[in-house]
Amino acid sequence: MRTIIYNGKGGVGKTSVSAATARRLAKLGHRTIIMSVDTAHSLGDSLGVELSSDIRNVGPNLDAFELDIIHEMRTKWSAIKDYISAFLLSQGVGDISADEMAILPGMEMAAALFYVLQFKDSGEYDVVIIDTAPTGETLRLLSFPDVSNWYIEKMFGTVKKLLAIARVTVGKVLDFPLPSKEVMQSIEEIKDNMQRVKAILEDSENTTIRLVLNPETMAINETMRSYTYLCLYNKTVECLIVNKILPPMKNAYFKEKMKEQEKHLQEIHEAFDPLKIMYAKMMPTELRGPEALDLMADMIFEDSDPIEVYATSSPMHFETEGDIDKLYVQMPFVKKEDVELFKAQDNSIIIHTGSQKRTVSLPMTFKDSEMIGAEFTDSHLIVKFRRNKDE
Ligand SMILES: Nc1ncnc2c1ncn2[C@@H]1O[C@H](COP(=O)(O)OP(=O)(O)OP(=O)(O)O)[C@@H](O)[C@H]1O
Ligand SMILES: [Mg+2]
Repeated sequence: MRTIIYNGKGGVGKTSVSAATARRLAKLGHRTIIMSVDTAHSLGDSLGVELSSDIRNVGPNLDAFELDIIHEMRTKWSAIKDYISAFLLSQGVGDISADEMAILPGMEMAAALFYVLQFKDSGEYDVVIIDTAPTGETLRLLSFPDVSNWYIEKMFGTVKKLLAIARVTVGKVLDFPLPSKEVMQSIEEIKDNMQRVKAILEDSENTTIRLVLNPETMAINETMRSYTYLCLYNKTVECLIVNKILPPMKNAYFKEKMKEQEKHLQEIHEAFDPLKIMYAKMMPTELRGPEALDLMADMIFEDSDPIEVYATSSPMHFETEGDIDKLYVQMPFVKKEDVELFKAQDNSIIIHTGSQKRTVSLPMTFKDSEMIGAEFTDSHLIVKFRRNKDE
């Protein structure tokens, strides 16, 4: 199953491009589902249909829904919510409601990605389109499988140890409630699912991210930052879609605008080549409803099939030379001096760039390796490890 995630700055046209893509895919006979993950849903508006959190058929080969995170938390995550509530109460912090849990970072994307798992297992669809919230937030959410595992390990790893102790320690009084078997099972399930979600997100042959932007400075800068972070999180950005391109106009004011646009389009090329770039013009009227969306799909994809994967190279890989292992992390637009590296005790390295932090778990074979240095070439961070000779 193919998974395509559209992301970009606020208002650049993510929802329109997602909807246009979904319609084109469905027309070509691919069994398609489109899901909106942004809490400020506008997918229904864009498609010109009424949507809710229930999946509904909106045309031949096309299903759609708008994810409602509060509903998800109330229904599917209630066992864990109850435990976290009880835990917080025991600590004198107070209760947590499903609604409050819904606003925890990463919950929406986690719920969305669990849907992807469900669709993959059921085999109902050939392709899932995810229309996301504006960049910053979603980037954090896309790293959720990495981050959440860390949380779960920290929080419930400790609880698990306590559970084992509590079973053998007669009369020991704990000052917080132990989770029920059901909760522990749910947690284990979530952990397993997270591993599967991570594998899906890193499967560059099937799961890709398409970045939507406009030819203007702020959108370009934000897209460059997103691209770097996505590489860092080992996600495949397969193409850019430059939307809202002004058609040629004679008026003096627009002439200036056109010049500016030329400059921005040039900047985009310089920054992102050889990434595939596709374009959509600014429409004279509001872009809403099937006809406008189909026009948009024609502009972007021309005669091609949007299920195609335009690039599959993974932004992170390992190479070995003699007793030296090299980790390559593709990090365009990052200056050497902005990168900080740490090796952690638990066989992982931590890469800091700006405000973002990424933990790269090293393969088991690196357990006794020594990190001997790092260099920065051709927009790649290369971290070198020497294998211990005594192994
Ligand atoms: N090529 C275009 N021509 C004309 N109008 C467009 C075009 N693309 C998008 N729009 C309009 O711009 C507005 C924002 O588009 P859209 O909702 O698709 O962006 P978005 O990136 O999903 O926004 P948000 O970040 O709020 O989710 C909408 O009113 C849409 O109709
Ligand atoms: Mg949108």
